[in-house]
Amino acid sequence: MTDWTRLVRPSLIGLEPYRPGPSLEELKAAYGLDEIVKLNWNEGLEGPFPGIEEEVLAELERAWIYPAEAYTDLRESVAAWVGTTPERIVPSHGIQALIATVAHTFLETGAKVVLTDPTYGLYATTCAAAGARIVQVPSRHHRHDVDALAAAAREAGARLVWLCDPNNPTGTLVERDEWERLLAGLPERCAVVVDEAYVEYVDPEVRLDRIRDVEAGAPVILMRTFSKVFGLAGLRLGYAIVDDPLASLLDVVQEPFNVNRAALAAGRASLRRSGLVDERRLANEAGRERLADRLREAGAEPVPSQANFLLVDVGVDDVALADGLARRGILVRAGSEFGLGGFVRITTGPIPLMERVAAELTELRAGLLAAGAPTA
Ligand SMILES: Cc1ncc(COP(=O)(O)O)c(C=O)c1O
Repeated sequence: MTDWTRLVRPSLIGLEPYRPGPSLEELKAAYGLDEIVKLNWNEGLEGPFPGIEEEVLAELERAWIYPAEAYTDLRESVAAWVGTTPERIVPSHGIQALIATVAHTFLETGAKVVLTDPTYGLYATTCAAAGARIVQVPSRHHRHDVDALAAAAREAGARLVWLCDPNNPTGTLVERDEWERLLAGLPERCAVVVDEAYVEYVDPEVRLDRIRDVEAGAPVILMRTFSKVFGLAGLRLGYAIVDDPLASLLDVVQEPFNVNRAALAAGRASLRRSGLVDERRLANEAGRERLADRLREAGAEPVPSQANFLLVDVGVDDVALADGLARRGILVRAGSEFGLGGFVRITTGPIPLMERVAAELTELRAGLLAAGAPTA
């Protein structure tokens, strides 16, 4: 028998792969449910924009040809949408793939990376798999502590700082002066990777335009996705916005044509309907604020969010609460999974759905409080 642990890179030993948990069909069978509402992964609940399906189907005629020209088209469409040049756009099959590409572009064994605790978990796993050492900086009041991140980066001589903004799982946003302090405080040879997966949900009044930092030559790497507001999570499409010379280096590391024609067609077609993004942002904001209001009225404490999810201090055993909601056909994330016992994270959506979630959560929470169930 081959002992694979002796053959693979030692940095992989002890790391756990991402485990998505039971499928919807398994959950339906386990709980005897016909319908399940998925509020646990922050997908854009409204799905693709109208008309996307037809364009994707039409593209399948060309399924036999590598998507060279489709890449160029997507680069141009994205560049026009975000307001920069196509040479700065690096398409990828989702931000998840970009995280690995960036890690393998920058990190050698023993290199240090700095990130907030809690944040999106894939940065740490991917960098650790690449052989890097992870330095975690606790958040303050559920917000990135940018001064502590910069100080940790200087102390460690870090090569990368990962900044998820708005942060997952908290939904909180970095402010302009904080961002400028972070940039100014980075050490030599250190880049900051900003995951803007949820940027389209952010109120334009408080949104930071980091593309100007990229264009000004700052050591900034931006990552965005079509999985959220564009509702294309199942097609796997994202992109980086970077300085042109870095785009070439990322393309050396990531495999050619890793985005398929269907995803590229969906992305282009979505951008032709980009006027709908604002509608979705406003609908999400209304649903999110309604959920926050209802939960506040019931005595829970939502963390102010700029994304399509809400982190809520429920003050009861979050695993029991999430399990109770799942039995009623509503999937949310128990905060314990992020080290936030007593919290749940809920994907936000239309007001009627949020009313239902608030009512079910309030009832279950009251039951747990009455039973004296302790906070996990
Ligand atoms: C912060 C963050 N980045 C990236 C992703 C995944 O993005 P993609 O679907 O483009 O791989 C998620 C998904 O939940 C996320 O929360």
